[in-house]
Amino acid sequence: MSVQIGDNSAAERNKRPIFDALLPWLRDTRCVLEVGAGDATHARYARQRLPETVWQTSEAPGHHRRLVAALADRQERHLPAPLALDVRGRWPDGPFDAVYGANVAHIMDWVAVEALFAGAARTLAPAGLLCLYGPFLRAGVAPEPGNAAFDAALRARDPAMGLREIEALDTLAARGALTRVDDIAMPSDNRLLVWRKRDV
Ligand SMILES: C[S@@+](CC[C@H](N)C(=O)[O-])C[C@H]1O[C@@H](n2cnc3c(N)ncnc32)[C@H](O)[C@@H]1O
Repeated sequence: MSVQIGDNSAAERNKRPIFDALLPWLRDTRCVLEVGAGDATHARYARQRLPETVWQTSEAPGHHRRLVAALADRQERHLPAPLALDVRGRWPDGPFDAVYGANVAHIMDWVAVEALFAGAARTLAPAGLLCLYGPFLRAGVAPEPGNAAFDAALRARDPAMGLREIEALDTLAARGALTRVDDIAMPSDNRLLVWRKRDV
C-alpha cells in the first residue's frame, strides 16, 4: 500500500471549517486520538480550539519521525508525544473519547479502512465518536466532478486507494456497534462524518 503525507497548504486551508464543524461534537472530550496526523497541522490547531482536550497524535511508522519532528517544539500535557500507529497493527489501549482522521480513508487500502473502524470501535469509550473528514462517495449517486477526477487519479496511481462509499463505511461501523450520527457538507465537496459508539 502506498502511504502519503497530506499537502500542508490543504490542511491549513481546511482546519478552520473542520474544527467549526467538529467543535459541537468534541467540545466535552477529554482525550482524542488522531490517526494519520501528517505534519500535525490539525493537532496544533486543536490546541487553540479545544484547549482542554488531550490530543494524541499518531502516524504510520514510515511517517512517524516526520510527525515527531513537526511537534518537537511542543511538549505539553495536552499534546503528548506522537504514537507510531499503523491502524492495521496494535492500537493503544485507550479509552479515547474520539478518534479523528482527516483525508485518510481514501489513502488507506480497504484492509486498513476496515482496521481503522475495528480499532476505533475497540478503543473508543462508550458513546465515543469516530470522526472522518475528506471526500467520500455515496452509493448510487454520481460523484461531484472534482471528486470523480480525484478518485480516478488515486486509483490510477494505486488501485488500492480511492474514495470510499459512505454506506460501505456505515457497514464497517455497524460491525463495531458504531452508528452514523452526522454527515456535514464541507467546502470543496468534502464531508465530515461522525459515528457514535453504543453507550453500554
Ligand atoms: C493524505 S494524508 C493526510 C494527512 C493529514 N491528516 C492531513 O489531513 O493533512 C494521509 C495520511 O494517512 C496515513 N496513513 C495511510 N495509511 C495508514 C495506516 N495504515 N495507518 C495509519 N496511517 C496511515 C498516511 O501516513 C498519511 O499521513
